[in-house]
Amino acid sequence: MKKRIGILTSGGDCPGLNCVIRAVVSHATLTYNWEVVGIPYATQGLLEQKTVPLSIHGWDLRGIDPLINMGGTILGSINKGDTLASASEILTGYEALGLDALIAVGGDGSLKIIHELATLGNWHLVAIPKTIDNDVALTERSIGFDTAVNTIVDAINRLTFTAASHDRVMIIEVMGRTAGHLALHSGIAGGADVILIPEVPYTIKGLCDHLTQLRDRWQRKFAIVVVAEGANPCLDDLENGDSCTTSKCGRGQYIADQIASCSSNLVDTRVSVLGHIQRGGIPSALDRLIATVYGKTAVDLIAQEKYDQMLAWQNGQAVAVPIQDALDKSPSLVNPQGELVQIAHSLGIYIGDN
Ligand code: F6P
Repeated sequence: MKKRIGILTSGGDCPGLNCVIRAVVSHATLTYNWEVVGIPYATQGLLEQKTVPLSIHGWDLRGIDPLINMGGTILGSINKGDTLASASEILTGYEALGLDALIAVGGDGSLKIIHELATLGNWHLVAIPKTIDNDVALTERSIGFDTAVNTIVDAINRLTFTAASHDRVMIIEVMGRTAGHLALHSGIAGGADVILIPEVPYTIKGLCDHLTQLRDRWQRKFAIVVVAEGANPCLDDLENGDSCTTSKCGRGQYIADQIASCSSNLVDTRVSVLGHIQRGGIPSALDRLIATVYGKTAVDLIAQEKYDQMLAWQNGQAVAVPIQDALDKSPSLVNPQGELVQIAHSLGIYIGDN
């Protein structure tokens, strides 16, 4: 029987979402001869009973397929609002669209909401993890993470040369409110001297001693500090009841102020907050590949009528795990005793007092 399947993207956007859409449409059309419709703006589209026709042909007059390298999502996305308050309208909308199954691409927050709706409405749901934070549990990789890491590494490269030219401590604030994967991966890959993440406590003394040692022992007059937006205040300020939350003041500026006040030498600091630049850009080859494998495998799961599953990247391949298991274990945080933190310590990167 010819199926009609829907696909939506939910939560914060990231590079690689259009690659999933492309793979789903191609495989569902060519292999199974199904119809695929896009749901615009995630649950908002369901509520408004709207669909976007998706076809493997006709993206471009010359035959170029822009979905392979276009950032963002052609379906639009939402990442706020009390969706569950409108649950009954959304369930009615889903029924009206006559879908046989739904593929939802989202982070742990939006997948949780969609999974709850799917349970209420008995939807045939397959989930695909995406988030530049890479904090969805049970998967080594979520779509968007690799591109964001590359974007940050590129920024670190650029900032290193200007920092070195002016003997400055350059502080680079990156995304990651609860998980430090982005800061840790990009900091190691970019050659940072300091990496501060929510999962690992640090002290300003430890940080300043490290910068002093860089200068006095190794004659390095500049330094690169990567700080996650959700890195905690230093231990001393936590004990003093620091009230500076990430929504009130940037962690990058906080660290710059602390560094400036901890040395008798004048330390010239500059702060770059990368912000949503990290969510944009052309998807990396790895993100395209993972997105394509996820999209293709999601269609196959529907063909096998295996629902309530999330695709996960484990040992270099896509496997299906129960959505609920992934949600129960999310967010997946950096292990302070884990290999990458140990590697950072071994390389002489300050990431917290040893
Ligand atoms: O969840 C991904 C994320 O990029 C976070 O790292 C960041 O704090 C947040 O989204 C920003 O979201 P918004 O688009 O709502 O500003």
